[in-house]
Order: sequence, then C-alpha cells, then structure tokens
Amino acid sequence: MSAHKLVGLAGSFNRPSKTFALVENVAGLAGEQYGFDNTIYDLTDVGPSLGQALRRDDLDSRAREVIDDIVSADVLVIGAPTYKGSYPGLFKHLIDLIDPHELRAKPIIITATGGGDRHALMVEHQLRPLFGFFMSHTLPTAVYASDRDFTDYRVSSDPLSKRIGEVIGELAAFFPSRNQALIAAE
Ligand SMILES: Cc1cc2nc3c(=O)[nH]c(=O)nc-3n(C[C@H](O)[C@H](O)[C@H](O)COP(=O)(O)O)c2cc1C
Repeated sequence: MSAHKLVGLAGSFNRPSKTFALVENVAGLAGEQYGFDNTIYDLTDVGPSLGQALRRDDLDSRAREVIDDIVSADVLVIGAPTYKGSYPGLFKHLIDLIDPHELRAKPIIITATGGGDRHALMVEHQLRPLFGFFMSHTLPTAVYASDRDFTDYRVSSDPLSKRIGEVIGELAAFFPSRNQALIAAE
C-alpha cells in the first residue's frame, strides 16, 4: 500500500516561524500515526511571483508546483499567522489561485498562531469559512497557538499538544486502515 500524501502549508514568510513549527509538529505526528508521506511549504517556498499573479499561469514554475502539490494531497495541514485578526493577505491570495473543485471533500486540519489569545477564534471565524467555500472537510478540532505555547520555535505546551492529539485522532475517520493506534489494538 503506497503512502498517502500529506501537504502542510504555513502562510508565513518568516524563518524561523511559529506557524511553520506548528504545521510541522501536526504533520509529523499525523505522519507517525497514519504513515503519510509529508511535504511542508511556507510562503517563501512559493516565492515572489505570487504577488504579481492574477492567474495560476502567471506564477513561476516553483510556485505552480507548490499549488499542484497542495491540490493533489490526500490531506492538508494549513497554518496561518494571525494578522489583524485574520489570515495574511498573501496567504489568501495563494488560496485564491486554487479552483473551487480542487479542494472539494479534502480533509484539512486548520491551525493558526497569534501573539496572544485575543484572536483565538480566528481559526473558526476566518479559516473554517474559507475552506467551507471549497466544500473541504475541515477537521472538527481547530488548533490555535499563541507565543507562550512555543519555546525556541518549537511546540512546548501540554494543552496545545493535547489539542493536536485530538485532531490527529479525528483523522482516523478518513484513514481508518492507516491508523497505527487501531492496528496495534487488533
Ligand atoms: C502585521 C502583523 C499583524 C499581527 N496581528 C496580530 C493579531 O491581530 N492578533 C494576534 O494575536 N497576533 C498578531 N500578530 C502576531 C503574529 O500573529 C504572531 O507573532 C505569529 O505567531 C507569527 O507567526 P510566524 O512566526 O509564523 O510568522 C501580528 C503580527 C504581524 C507581523
């Protein structure tokens, strides 16, 4: 059985990035439990052609490859830093270049980071409706992390790790035969 493909997207240009660290953590644990083949991108990987592109054809080949990888993934882990209570404009612009049918019924783990807790519902009020437009299957547990959940750009808080564990468990509905926890119990 070949591995299913997980693609992570961190909607940040920063390196290092808390959003990237969060997406990497979630993707790594999902990969361990379900045997996914993981690739993770950030907006720096997408590169500068994004800002000028009105259509997918306007992107350079690297940026087009990233979008092709996103739309062909079996499961996505999306992360966005919170900017002014929402996701960053260039993250949205990347998503705008995806056709509505391309993310239909795709399982998506939605995550976000922010400086504090004030905008913790950004995941519910901004990210979930965005992927609702695409008729994607956003997983029930959304993961928001603030500065205090990280140490040296690594996930370091127990409540955050617990929440991540919950959403990883929810993936079993989509990949039952891949779930190492269930296989071990048989
Ligand atoms: C332009 C800008 C706007 C921001 N607005 C918010 C905000 O509204 N709420 C919040 O909690 N944090 C806000 N932040 C803080 C970032 O969301 C936070 O530092 C995030 O974890 C950065 O992620 P990164 O390390 O992946 O770039 C803002 C940061 C920037 C640069």
